[in-house]
This record gives sequence, C-alpha cells and structure tokens, in this order.
Amino acid sequence: MMMTITFDFTNYDLSAVGSTHGLNRSEVLTEYQAPMYQHITELFAKRHTEGAWVKWLNAGNQPELAQELMTYAKAQHGKYDDLIILGIGGSSLGGLALLKALLHPFWNNLSTEARKGYPRFHFVDNVEGDTINGLLDVVNLKRTLVNVVSKSGTTAETMSVFMLLKERLEAVLKQPATQLKDHLVFTTDLNKGILRELATTLEVTTFEVPDDVGGRFSVFSAVGMLPAALCGLDVAEFQKGIQAYETVASNPNLAQNPVAQNALYQMLFCQAGKPISVLMPYSTKLAFVADWYVQLWAESLGKAENLKGETVNVGATPLKAVGATDQHSQVQLYNEGPFDKVFTFITVETPDAELMIPDSLPEVPALGYLANQSFHKLLSCEFMATKASLKRNQRPSCTISMPKLDVFHFAQLLYAIEVQTALAGAFLGIDPFNQPGVELGKKYTHALMGSQGYEHLINEAMGV
Ligand code: PA5
Repeated sequence: MMMTITFDFTNYDLSAVGSTHGLNRSEVLTEYQAPMYQHITELFAKRHTEGAWVKWLNAGNQPELAQELMTYAKAQHGKYDDLIILGIGGSSLGGLALLKALLHPFWNNLSTEARKGYPRFHFVDNVEGDTINGLLDVVNLKRTLVNVVSKSGTTAETMSVFMLLKERLEAVLKQPATQLKDHLVFTTDLNKGILRELATTLEVTTFEVPDDVGGRFSVFSAVGMLPAALCGLDVAEFQKGIQAYETVASNPNLAQNPVAQNALYQMLFCQAGKPISVLMPYSTKLAFVADWYVQLWAESLGKAENLKGETVNVGATPLKAVGATDQHSQVQLYNEGPFDKVFTFITVETPDAELMIPDSLPEVPALGYLANQSFHKLLSCEFMATKASLKRNQRPSCTISMPKLDVFHFAQLLYAIEVQTALAGAFLGIDPFNQPGVELGKKYTHALMGSQGYEHLINEAMGV
C-alpha cells in the first residue's frame, strides 16, 4: 500500500487540552456528519462543472498537461542558467513553495553540473527597484528564461517588471524580433487578457491557467508545474501523489476524512474564540508552504458576505511559524498569550539524509546530551516538546505527518490543504473562490498612478 500523509487530532480534544479549550471529538463527528457529508459530496460533485471554480480538484488526472510541460521543459534543458518567474499571490506562492521544498536547499548556489543543467530560479513578486536591480546584477539575460505568470495579464506588479525585463532583454539580445521569444514563456488565461494578446504578437510559447481555476488554487496547473518541470521535477509524480490522496480527501464520511475534519475543527475553533490559525512546519524547506497557506486561508475565507448576500464578516487569521526557529520567537506568546489560536504542525518522518551531531566538545559536559544524536532526532524532540508544552497550556493543535519530503507526499499536502480550505468555505457558507476585498486597493493604485478612467478616485485614494 502506498504511504500517504496523515493527520493526528489528539490535541484538539478536550481530553488533551481541557474542556474550556478543547472539543469533544465524538460529539463533533456525530453532530456535523450530516452537513459535512453534504459539503464534501457537493464539492466533489462539481469537479467537472464549468464555472464552478473547482477544476483544481482534478489536478491528479491531467496526463496531457504533464506530457506537454515535460516535453517543453526537456527542450529547454541546458539552454538557460537562470529562470525568472514573474507573478504575485496565487501566481507565485505555490511555485515558490514547491521549489523551495523539493530542490536542494541551496540550489541557486550549486554549480551547473550539480544542478544537472537545470536553471537557478528567482521569483519576483514585488515592485521594489532595489531588489529588481539586484537580480539584474546576478543574472546574464542572454542565458535567462523569463516565465510571466498572470491569469488576468493586468496585474501591475507582474506586468511592470515584465515591461522592464522586455526592454532589458531586447537591449542585450540586439535582434528583438527574432530572439526575444526564446527568452519568454507565458502562463495565462487560454483566451483572454493582455498577456494572451502579447503571446500572439510576440510569438511566445504559452501555457494555460485553466479558465475556472483561481490563482491560489492553481499550483498544480502550469502556474506551479512549469517552474517545477523547468527545474527538473517530474509533473507526473505530483499527479500520482494527488491521485493517491483523492479518495481520502473526497470521502464523504466525516469520520474517515481527516481533511474535512480539519476544515471543521478549524472553523469550530474559530467560532469558539480562536480565530488565529498557525501553520508551523518543523522544516525550513517547508517554510514557504506556510506563506502559501497564509494566502490561501486568508483570501479564501475572509469574506464580508455569505452566499445569501448577508453581511457576515467571517474569516480566520492565518499565521506562519517555522519550527524549531520560531520556538525562539513566537512560542512564548503561543504558550502564555491569549487563548485565541489553533495550531497545525507539519512534520517529516524520514529525512533525506541522516546527519549526526559529533562528540566534538567532550570538554563541555553541558552539551554532552547532544553528542552522537542525529539532527533529525533533535528536531523531532523539539517538535514533540513544543506540542507537549502547548497541550499542557491548553492550546489545541493537530499534526500533519509526511512520511518523506518528496514530490509524491508534497503534492498530497498541498492538495489536502486546498480541499480543507474549500470545505471550510462551504462550512462558513461563503464563496472561497473570489476576492472582492482586494479590488478596491487595485483601483486606488490605478488612480494614484494616473490611469485613465480612475480620476474620480484620486481624492479617496489619497485619503482626503
Ligand atoms: O489567488 C488569487 O486569485 C490572486 O492571488 C491572484 O493569483 C493574484 O492577484 C495574481 O493575479 P494574476 O494571476 O491575474 O496576475
């Protein structure tokens, strides 16, 4: 049998953290079996429905996409030293999370040989001139591929940097019309948007962000899979991971579906006065998964209106932490501060390689307990200690265990969190796939930048 990620909810329970802060598992499962059964079946029934925004549920069954991306990536192999990915939010966080988790932790510092000819990668998701200049200092544009990722093609942060890189590429390539296209690849909407039009005029190879897959649910489309393939990861293996987990995540029986249980628990804790959801992987390689989660949870669940149009102003506040690092930063607050948080730990059971702490300071007895033990054991003990201290202080937590940090299990983790988010949205009765709350800020930016048609918003945007 194939190994899958697992969830442990022991420390959500009142038997672990007390009746004031914990929940009664058997009561939760009994009381919410019927509504959650409905949410799960409704969600998965819509997976092939046009316009339902849940096509990402089928991400494990796209052999053509895997084939197309791997063929393109193979043809590019060895041509570029650097891959620059321009995108923001859902158009960058998933790709960043997966490359950081699955490639060598110091990938960009490796030699070309050690990278087996695959490029270094750089995500640009901000419009800070100093950072962009800094990147231009370290890449040779003649040996660089730029992947512009924008579903809408109108996002100011992404398109402004593209405008700059296009000009810089043309300057170094000298023959813009013939060579520019070899240094660009777009990921955008199939039919519409500025980037789609530019792809035609500039003759740039383009991959699709499926019509009804929203940015933050798009990691398994070309948005995340193209950077993965270009850096040597196997897209089909991601799909195998999802396939292996689909039956678990779609099981309508709440008691047998840990993903639905976590969606439910998180929302019940939120309603019970714990609106802060901390995701704390015990792994630096998984740190960017927490960033990806923060966007997914915040943008999907923070909504003013429910599906009936009533004002509800719901949502839980996601927070990133990394173990063991943040034990020395946030855990004091977690253990003794307000009882307003619920924790999800992520652990990796088997490291890629075992590294031992040598007995190199025998003259220091105080450090003797560390000698001849593995770093993995130290990290695991630190995780167990944090979990136990939170339990002792009546702070509920659950743990997601990954048998290994590889493509197969990583895909399961992200897929599980996506399904969990969609089910949490269903439980709240809101639309987790829109983001009306970011539109106003975008309009104000247009007004402040002098964009035509937004003049009437200038005073408002300036706060006068
Ligand atoms: O999740 C989302 O929908 C957003 O975070 C978008 O991905 C982000 O705003 C970027 O949009 P676009 O891909 O249109 O440039």
